[in-house]
Amino acid sequence: MFDHRRSHRPSIFYRPIRPTDLEAIEKIHAELFPIRYESEFFLNVVHGRDIVSWGAVDRNRRNGKSDELIGFVTARIVMARESEVEDLLRFESPRADETLVYILTLGVVDSYRNHGIATSLIREVIRYASNIPTCQAVYLHVISYNNSAIHLYNKMSFQCVRRLHAFYFINGQHYDSYLFIYYVNGGRSPCSLLEFATLLVAYIRSGFRSAASRIWWKKEDEVSRWMKCKESSSRLIPMTQNKRILTTNATGCQFA
Ligand SMILES: CC(C)(COP(=O)(O)OP(=O)(O)OC[C@H]1O[C@@H](n2cnc3c(N)ncnc32)[C@H](O)[C@@H]1OP(=O)(O)O)[C@@H](O)C(=O)NCCC(=O)NCCS
Repeated sequence: MFDHRRSHRPSIFYRPIRPTDLEAIEKIHAELFPIRYESEFFLNVVHGRDIVSWGAVDRNRRNGKSDELIGFVTARIVMARESEVEDLLRFESPRADETLVYILTLGVVDSYRNHGIATSLIREVIRYASNIPTCQAVYLHVISYNNSAIHLYNKMSFQCVRRLHAFYFINGQHYDSYLFIYYVNGGRSPCSLLEFATLLVAYIRSGFRSAASRIWWKKEDEVSRWMKCKESSSRLIPMTQNKRILTTNATGCQFA
């Protein structure tokens, strides 16, 4: 396979995907993904019908290929309340117009990988989502064995919030998927990490108070036993506990 790294220094440029990219985008999708997309999907991408997209090109590429796509990301705006991640969002007000940006496909041709191109494309999506006042988060699915993509999303501070059993069905076989989310515009989960940390601190403090008071009562009992030679009763301080079970796996994913 042609590897540009041996021949020249690439000059990566990002631009919207246009109708003239139709053939290239179909070809790269067919090369990179085990899933077949319908022609209608590609037509919607290049014409921007319900889909937003960014392409990457190498301006230093020779043979008239300086405007040919070498990477892309496609995404769609979805209504938060109709999405599968509705339960992962905290709705501050009963607004019905809250939205999300769902990443549909992301890819970089093999010979251009590890140049930060996908990172830049995802940043474009995050910037776009952040500029939509109603948007709460960017989210996506990734097949469970795609280590490079999982590494990328973890690196970009996406939170892996769910493992979906047998989400994909490819060539007669089921594969799990991870669901990653990146909150924007103050969007957050019903119980954010900060709240979890606050609860944990409160729990530790109440535990500490409970232990301290038990010691205090014990001391008092000892004193009273010593002073009055009388048996004291044990006291229990009620303690409320907010318990969340978290499991972590090798991908760095945490599931609540
Ligand atoms: C996933 C993909 C888009 C990444 O594109 P890219 O332009 O190479 O990504 P970047 O250069 O921005 O970042 C790649 C990171 O992944 C790391 N990486 C690459 N292969 C890896 C692997 N097998 N395991 C773990 N990490 C890996 C790189 O080291 C780099 O991390 P670093 O910046 O910490 O060094 C690209 O590999 C691809 O197109 N894959 C096929 C299609 C696909 O899987 N799309 C994602 C669907 S959800």
